[in-house]
Parts: sequence; structure tokens; C-alpha cells
Amino acid sequence: MGTKSFCLLIVSVLLAYYVYTPIPENMEERWKLMLIDASFRTLSHMAELAERLGLVHYMEVLMMITNMEYTAPISDENVTVTDTEFNNVPARLYVPRKQSSGLKRAVIYIHGGGWCVGGSAMEPYDLLSRWTATKLNAVVVSVEYRLAPMYHFPVQFEDVYTVVRFFLQSSVLAQYGVDPNRICISGDSAGGNLAAAVTQQLLDDDQVKIKLKIQALLYPALQTLDLDLPSYKDNENTPILPKSLMVRFWSEYFTTDSSLYEAMASNKHVPAESNHLFRFVNWSSLLPEDFKKDHVYTSPIYGSSSLGKKYPGFLEPRAAPLLVDDSKLRGLPLTYVLTCQHDVLRDDGIMYVSRLREAGIEVIHNHIEDAIHGALMFITSPTDLALGHRVANKYIEWLNMNL
Ligand SMILES: *[C@@H]1O[C@H](CO)[C@@H](O)[C@H](O)[C@H]1NC(C)=O
Ligand SMILES: *[C@@H]1O[C@H](CO)[C@@H](O)[C@H](O)[C@H]1NC(C)=O
Repeated sequence: MGTKSFCLLIVSVLLAYYVYTPIPENMEERWKLMLIDASFRTLSHMAELAERLGLVHYMEVLMMITNMEYTAPISDENVTVTDTEFNNVPARLYVPRKQSSGLKRAVIYIHGGGWCVGGSAMEPYDLLSRWTATKLNAVVVSVEYRLAPMYHFPVQFEDVYTVVRFFLQSSVLAQYGVDPNRICISGDSAGGNLAAAVTQQLLDDDQVKIKLKIQALLYPALQTLDLDLPSYKDNENTPILPKSLMVRFWSEYFTTDSSLYEAMASNKHVPAESNHLFRFVNWSSLLPEDFKKDHVYTSPIYGSSSLGKKYPGFLEPRAAPLLVDDSKLRGLPLTYVLTCQHDVLRDDGIMYVSRLREAGIEVIHNHIEDAIHGALMFITSPTDLALGHRVANKYIEWLNMNL
């Protein structure tokens, strides 16, 4: 065999290794999904290598996607788009152009990206906000909160909270012609986490008189305690968000110290002093049978108390909204939860649905059987999937009917 054909063989084997990944059986557009996943994995491996060589932080390499997908704030025939600031926190603002006599609805949108990457100006997020503004004739505020590893918890939470608090003032709403009774907060993934946390925090804030009508949580991350839920086990290597990346996002939210990552990766990060919190994320009692399948519930294994003392954030409801008791849940607004079957975060969303319903909150749960995590990101060419459009339409239609 000549050198050239040998090289070709090696390249083909490597490519096949990258392209071939078990795609869940009920998914459509399998080839496209394999290629998208292969490019993600390549980038992730490059990031690992670069980090090991001491060149850059892992997340700086992943951030390349966010930067590549940056779009300027360009107004179109339906929406005026501007980059602005609310109380010094940047946000992208979408105001519908259509003249209407009455007040408008509003959606505060919190983008995903594991608290480390992503941005309101990324093409898919920008498009989703335009669609929302156009179809609902609503004002959309898409928050540009600060990211890890430069900023850790609670900076992300506080940036979002600052914008929400500022926007929910009568004078500000009046300026944009927004109806104070028709405001929603929405977010996907880490953004769903921030939306849920902020909505809980508002319940205790006497200074904010205007209430949110709806929270919409799109495949949200809601708990840090058990990173071995059935959905984590079933989707350890599922495209877009493997378990290792989710654990990395979680640990990076609190610190770049790799000891937290390692403890979380083996699910031994919660100190014994916090064992009372496990009942809030007990999948044995909170998951419907369909999702438990053959998984066997085992008692938690505790970690050292020093991690909990050094990084107490990961035991707080502001980071893990499932960690509150029922009395706190009772004040929450109408909630829309979207979960995907092939997603490590699936059970976070489902357990929140169970907890909210037990607390008497009205919840609309939309579970998509043939979806992966991050489905809403796949709505722009060349990485658009029919799935992305379907999920986006479902969410926006529900909002249109209920907000
Ligand atoms: C503006 O809205 C109309 C009606 O919803 C739609 O058909 C059109 O594509 C929108 N324009 C842009 C640039 O999105
Ligand atoms: C979780 O729920 C099961 C019953 O479904 C119970 O046996 C177990 O003790 C609970 N564990 C915790 C930590 O609450």
C-alpha cells in the first residue's frame, strides 16, 4: 500500500470514528445530525487538547461557535432591533413595528450555553427572538449576561435578575407600551435554569410589584445534586450534550478548580451535611414509571464537606431551583416546560413538573420524543433541522395562545 492510500485510509477511519455516533433510533435527518455532532465533537476534542497543552481554557475554544454565529442588530420590516443596556447589563431589544392600539405583550429571553458560552446575538437566538416578536407582536428583551470562566455564579444570575427587575417597573413598561399583566420569562438550557431561579427569587422581592404571567422553561438545567439520574445514564453519549460536557458546564459555573469537576463527574460532590436536600431531587418518587425503565434507585454517596464550604453556590436554589420546598413553589406563575427524550437534562425538567403539580401550580408539559438537547439551536442554515423548526413553532404557538 502506498503512503498516499495509507494516509487516506487513516483519514477515513478517523472521519468514520467522528461521524459515527449512535443517533437515537426515532430521530429524523440522521446524516445531518451525525455531521453536526461530528463537528461539535471535533471542536470539543480540540478544546481539550488546547487546554491540556496549557494554551487556552476549554470554554474559550467552544466560544468560537458563539463568535462565528454573531449577527449585528439589524432591524427588518417587522421588528426594530437594538443593542441596549438595562441598568448597565447589556440586552438585545426587539420592538415590533406594527402599529397597534392596545398594549403589547413582552417576553424576557435568557439564552442557553451552560453559563459559559452562547449569546443573545447568536444567529439562532436572534432569529428565535425575531419570530417571537413578530408572531406575538411582543417586545422581546434578550439578556446578555456575563459568562464563565471569566465570571462565576452568582454573576450570571444577578445580571439576569438586574434586567428583569429593571424591566418590571411601570415606567419602563409604559415606555415600551407593554401590558404589565402579560409578561413572560423564557429560557433554554442554562437560560431555563436562570429563568426558573429568577422567577423564584422574585416571589421574595417586595419591591417588585409587577408579576410575571408565565415562565417557559425549555429543556432547563434545574439541579446539581444528582448527576446520575436515569436521563444522565441513558444519554451519556447522546449528540450535542454528552454527560461529560454538562458536568463541565455545571462545575465551571461555580469554579475553574478541577476538583469540583472531578467530584461531580463521579457524583460524589454533595457533603453529608446537605443530605436533607436529596428528597427534592429523588427520581425514585418524582419520575413517572416510563422514564425510570430498568434503573435502580441507590442512596446518594457523599463527598467531602470542604467542596461544599468552598463553593456553596452549588447547593443553593439560585443555582439549582429544584432545591426549594413546596411552600416556595406555591407562588409560581403558570409554567410551560419543554423536555426532550434524548437529553441528559430530561429528568431535571420532568421532576420540576412533578414538584410544581404537587404544589398546585398549573403546568403545561411538552415532552418531545424524538428530540435532542438544544433542538432550538438548529433553525439556521446550514445546521437547520426540521426538529428545530417544529420545537420553535410549538413553543411560540403555545406562548401566543397563553400570554
Ligand atoms: C415579517 O412578517 C411577515 C408576516 O408574519 C412574514 O411573512 C415575513 O417573512 C416577516 N419578515 C421578516 C424579514 O422576517
Ligand atoms: C427516595 O424515594 C424512595 C421511595 O420512592 C425512598 O425509598 C428513598 O428513601 C428516598 N430517598 C431520599 C434520599 O429521599
